[in-house]
Amino acid sequence: MRREIFRMERAEAEALLGLAEVIHLASTTAEGEPVLRTVHGVVVRGAIAFHGAPVGEKTEAVGRPAVVSCEQLVASIPSYFTDPERACPATTLYRSAQAHGVIERVDDPDHKAEVLEALMQKYQPEGGYTPLDASSPLYRKAIAGILVLAVPLSRLDGKAKLAQNRTPEERARILTKLWERGAPGDAAAIELLRGACLDTPVPEFLQAPAGCVLACALGPRDVAAAVDLLEGGYWNQGVSREAIARALLGSSAWVGARDAAGRLVATARAISDGSRRAWVYDVMVAPSLRGRGVGEAVVRLLLGHPAVRGASHVHLGTQDAHTFYARFGFRDRAALPPRPFTSTEMVFSRR
Ligand SMILES: CC(C)(COP(=O)(O)OP(=O)(O)OC[C@H]1O[C@@H](n2cnc3c(N)ncnc32)[C@H](O)[C@@H]1OP(=O)(O)O)[C@@H](O)C(=O)NCCC(=O)NCCS
Repeated sequence: MRREIFRMERAEAEALLGLAEVIHLASTTAEGEPVLRTVHGVVVRGAIAFHGAPVGEKTEAVGRPAVVSCEQLVASIPSYFTDPERACPATTLYRSAQAHGVIERVDDPDHKAEVLEALMQKYQPEGGYTPLDASSPLYRKAIAGILVLAVPLSRLDGKAKLAQNRTPEERARILTKLWERGAPGDAAAIELLRGACLDTPVPEFLQAPAGCVLACALGPRDVAAAVDLLEGGYWNQGVSREAIARALLGSSAWVGARDAAGRLVATARAISDGSRRAWVYDVMVAPSLRGRGVGEAVVRLLLGHPAVRGASHVHLGTQDAHTFYARFGFRDRAALPPRPFTSTEMVFSRR
């Protein structure tokens, strides 16, 4: 039988634990009763650390064996994606990390402050507070009074079930089915699955010009490279990098293309209500790769994106690429049949 679940690299498992919204902590009480808690955790000094009140269940847990775990649900795969009759292939794709260890109490004030500061940075990244410092009169008492616990990650196990056990053809079919289904998270799941199994054939909707790989879901790791591409655009003159970045991350669909070395060489995004209107923005191909079909491939992918394809009208503005967009069916608004009413486009501008 082919292996269904694959071990993750240690760094990847640690990153998953560190990024998880919540961590599950299983241990026992003094009486040997099992306890399961959900905690906010951070990875500090090679351990998953969390805090609690100095009295209560968590205090009793010190010195006891525990298991900490987190999971990321990637996609639920119905049986009919790969088999029209048998229920057996129904499954859930996920990534998870689990560590076994003994719960330790952190007593050193500097170490406690480091954990608490890491918790703040994770759960209140916008700041708005004075950073924690054990020697500061602002925090000295609070740090002494709070309980900080940690479970070392020496026995850490990460698992990724990302359809690695399926044949490459089955996997390509799953990618197509995920794209067709287009539920929230499916586009991101497609990219995770492709990243886990590099021998997966490229499905039709991701076909790209030679030397390029299309990406149907870009994310935080692509922001800097995309902003590098976009900040030269005539429509972004005077727009800060930060504003361009927020627009990318706030879009309903954000796609792109990478070159053979994995560098981002094209980006395109859209906002959409999924039904009546979508707006395409920030279409850009790296100058050295223009004229090879990359722009066309990226715009086709964007128009077929689950968030965009249901919109009956897709809008965009362009200074000089009218004929480029005409090949997808875009028409000058003035050439459309007049509406049965007159209206003026109005804008409420904040700057
Ligand atoms: C416009 C842009 C995205 C097109 O990307 P690209 O990868 O060069 O385009 P493709 O190679 O897929 O071109 C497809 C076709 O469109 C044509 N085309 C490309 N850019 C064009 C433009 N600005 N105006 C008119 N036609 C254009 C190409 O000549 C090609 O035609 P062909 O198949 O007959 O040779 C790219 O040139 C770019 O990034 N430009 C700068 C940013 C920009 O203007 N973005 C659009 C803002 S609305």
